[in-house]
Amino acid sequence: MVPAFDKLNLPLSVARELRSAHAGETGAVWIYKGILAVSRDDDVRAFAAEHLETEQKHLAFFERWMPKRWHTRLTPLWKLAGWLLGALPVLFGRRAVFATIRAVETFVDDHYLAQIELLEGNRHWQPLREQLQAFRQDEIDHRDDAAARIMEHDGMIARAWARVVETGSAAGVMASRRL
Ligand SMILES: [Fe+2]
Ligand SMILES: [Fe+2]
Repeated sequence: MVPAFDKLNLPLSVARELRSAHAGETGAVWIYKGILAVSRDDDVRAFAAEHLETEQKHLAFFERWMPKRWHTRLTPLWKLAGWLLGALPVLFGRRAVFATIRAVETFVDDHYLAQIELLEGNRHWQPLREQLQAFRQDEIDHRDDAAARIMEHDGMIARAWARVVETGSAAGVMASRRL
């Protein structure tokens, strides 16, 4: 069991990072909801439904564990942004969906790794660290699942789009740390 948020005496910088992780999991849930709202492709829907289930577990942890006063005030924005990030690529076909998810989950993998490193060395933080490690492994599986479904090599547009997704995600994290 991860000890209560208030018992861990996390430095403000770490708490802010975790707030952005909560924001990110909110966005992740809504990305997959966005895909499911628009897609009529059975494979894409099965892919999104499976990932959604995992993201809901991740989000439920943060909702339970992180006191409300710590939650980002930008939640409505992340829901909308996530939904659009999931729904829009559907209009461009399944490859666009998988390329988007691969870019998002690559970003999330790095983001969790940075937090896991921040939590190193303090034994009181170890259960939280292990929790984040488990989440990170799920994100890596999501990334690999998406990558395996992209058959062809990336074109220039796919690469440019992946950069847009990464830049947008980084901006979201930056905003969620403070707001
Ligand atoms: Fe997640
Ligand atoms: Fe994920």
